[in-house]
Amino acid sequence: VRVAVIFGGQSAEHEVSCRSAASVFRFLNRSRYEVTPIRITRDGRWQVGVDTGPDTADAIVSGAAYPEADGRSPISTLTDALEALKSVQAAFPVMHGPYGEDGTIQALLDLAGVPYVGSGVPASAASMDKEFTKKIVAAEGIAVADGVVLREGDAEDISPEDKARLGLPVFVKPSCSGSSVGVSRVDDWADLPRAVRHAREHDTKVLIEVAVVGREVDLSVLQNPDGSIEVGPALEINLKSQEGFFDFDAKYTSGMVEFRIPAELDPAHLELLSDAARRAFRALGCAGLLRADFFLAEIDGRTVPVLNEVNTLPGFTELSQFPQMWRAAGVEYPELLDRLFTTALA
Ligand code: DAL
Ligand code: MG
Repeated sequence: VRVAVIFGGQSAEHEVSCRSAASVFRFLNRSRYEVTPIRITRDGRWQVGVDTGPDTADAIVSGAAYPEADGRSPISTLTDALEALKSVQAAFPVMHGPYGEDGTIQALLDLAGVPYVGSGVPASAASMDKEFTKKIVAAEGIAVADGVVLREGDAEDISPEDKARLGLPVFVKPSCSGSSVGVSRVDDWADLPRAVRHAREHDTKVLIEVAVVGREVDLSVLQNPDGSIEVGPALEINLKSQEGFFDFDAKYTSGMVEFRIPAELDPAHLELLSDAARRAFRALGCAGLLRADFFLAEIDGRTVPVLNEVNTLPGFTELSQFPQMWRAAGVEYPELLDRLFTTALA
């Protein structure tokens, strides 16, 4: 099977995408897949590479493995990339954040007629934008954190009524971002404007949300070639320190966090979470895969899964949550890749 793996990109999660892609190159079964690496630089230029095998995954990802075209710099054009895509049967955009996970690259693949791993344009766009995600899943009866949306041009502050309702601390987030880039926790209202400005470095639209108190549990959804969906074992995130939150450093510094898979959950709570993950996948119109991130909160004496956010292209190193959850279900990383491509081609 001839496939393209597209990675890098212009988002703040460029480096995360490269790490995810390095694992894909390392573990993709070469007796079944012939792979063309397509790298997008931080400034949005495209490079079409040559696969030099699992042992050189890091070189492929860093850009060292790209032949110089006609003695010029090893940068291809988007047209070259589209030409390369014409000769593959499927693509895997191993991209996180805007311009990768938000429907833009998916639209390009649709126009080029290339099937791909993961969600299509509307689901990717809605899932990248936390305001839209919350509105769609809330309409399905899934609980989400109370909050206020600041749009472009809105002040960097919120009303006294909103402050009283939300209480401190609050989380301030760019509506479109990933890996907690641009997110801060605010413990004093005087710090709100600075947090809003920080979030606005990543998106003009900013969410200010209550801090949901509860265990942090992620669920993974995988779609089979026949369209049916499966939910994998739950993963609980335990931060080593009680001080911060699961921010960029905690996500990518080893030892700051511990994943427990399967999470030790009351079976009834696990069923609530799994059901909410399945419903979120369907409501957003997702395809292929989804990681849905929840807090298990106590609200009016009831245990309720509160959906924090979804990831249509979750972190994909072999140590990331999504592959670890499927590993715990007996699906090793190479088989997981195989499943994703098989579903994309179905
Ligand atoms: N946005 C990162 C890659 C994640 O959700 O895993
Ligand atoms: Mg995310």
